[in-house]
Amino acid sequence: MSILITNIKQLLQTRTHGIFKVSGKEMKELPLIENAYLLIEHDTIVEYGSMKNIGAVIAEKTIDATGKIVLPAWCDSHTHLVYAGHREQEFVDRINGLSYEEIAKKGGGILNSAEILEHTSEDDLYEQSVKRLIEVMKLGTGAIEIKSGYGLTLESELKILRVIKRLKQDFNILVRPTFLGAHAIPKAFKGNKAGYIDELVNTIIPEIAKTQLAKYIDVFCEEDFFTLEDTERILKAGIKHNMVPKLHVNQFKAFGGVALGVKHNARSVDHLEIVKPEDIKALKGNHTMPVALPSCSYFLGIPYTPARQLIDAGLPLAIASNYNPGTTPSGNMNFVVSTACIKMKMTPEEAINAATINGAYAMGAHKMFGSITRGKKANIIITEDIPNYNYIPYAFGDNNINTVIINGKIVE
Ligand code: NIG
Repeated sequence: MSILITNIKQLLQTRTHGIFKVSGKEMKELPLIENAYLLIEHDTIVEYGSMKNIGAVIAEKTIDATGKIVLPAWCDSHTHLVYAGHREQEFVDRINGLSYEEIAKKGGGILNSAEILEHTSEDDLYEQSVKRLIEVMKLGTGAIEIKSGYGLTLESELKILRVIKRLKQDFNILVRPTFLGAHAIPKAFKGNKAGYIDELVNTIIPEIAKTQLAKYIDVFCEEDFFTLEDTERILKAGIKHNMVPKLHVNQFKAFGGVALGVKHNARSVDHLEIVKPEDIKALKGNHTMPVALPSCSYFLGIPYTPARQLIDAGLPLAIASNYNPGTTPSGNMNFVVSTACIKMKMTPEEAINAATINGAYAMGAHKMFGSITRGKKANIIITEDIPNYNYIPYAFGDNNINTVIINGKIVE
């Protein structure tokens, strides 16, 4: 199937040479072509340019994008989309004054989700997750990372990872699976964190590795969850089994998780609501992508990642949804982009770069996703008629997406 999109008002993120990521001042640059066309063959972008130079192009389907903006689909590099049930009572508890940490200490939070998941069949878990995946695809997400972490036993973690694999097989979208067994200390190991870490390192990680169901290994490196020493031990076990580190760091406390991630060549360090000068220093000149999760800050009422500090220090930054039942029950990347602009003072260019090419980098998918480049996958958002691309983050809460194309296929 070939698709020709014509009369595009603005074609965004056009990169002749595939780039890996954009950092610092480059993040303010968003290359675009006004009055453009784009040609897709099968699942690939084969040509694009100004309407003046379109020549005699023939395609099986033509979409007239007069008045519309076209850009790469969002690359959401941090989600926990496979979960069971909801946690709206904790939402109310927080309104009434309890903190996230207090709820977790009382056995709620992640442990609450783990208990629901344990009693949910694999098929039910799949069906619940399918609904969320379709919803985010329609909202423009064209590549997604999904973590386990609501299992906390070998059996339940495998159940989640198998569901992630089924989603990957059944839907036409890039899915990157991450093992997050170190998300919390399960009830069975209450007061025996060392015992759970032994179980992770000696049994669960080697078994997960045999199945090849996870590309990345993640740890919730946070006070009352996993210390630096715990995190390093778990990461090393994952690395030994060819998993690449990604980390949850600095969500509530900053105590060296960023430098630890960098030391182990983490693909990304995510959250960063609290950032210290030493974190910025650790990231400089290295390959690890910092990832901010603005909808999580919005929902929990915690600080926003200081994007200006990171970008103005010359660093790259990606933004992602963090879709999960506890801290971010939304996978809407359009809201993420708006919130990054409104609350983190990122410019629309920076936010769009952060949610496309840098998001792709944060999940190791930058060679095929995240920009309009010949040879890359045809993952495309076509907006409604809007004045220009600044309108995308400006019109927060509106759905201005007309059509989404993922791997060359229109999402119905
Ligand atoms: O990224 N912080 C750790 N993990 C998730 C939240 C987990 C939960 O509360 O369910 C996050 O925010």
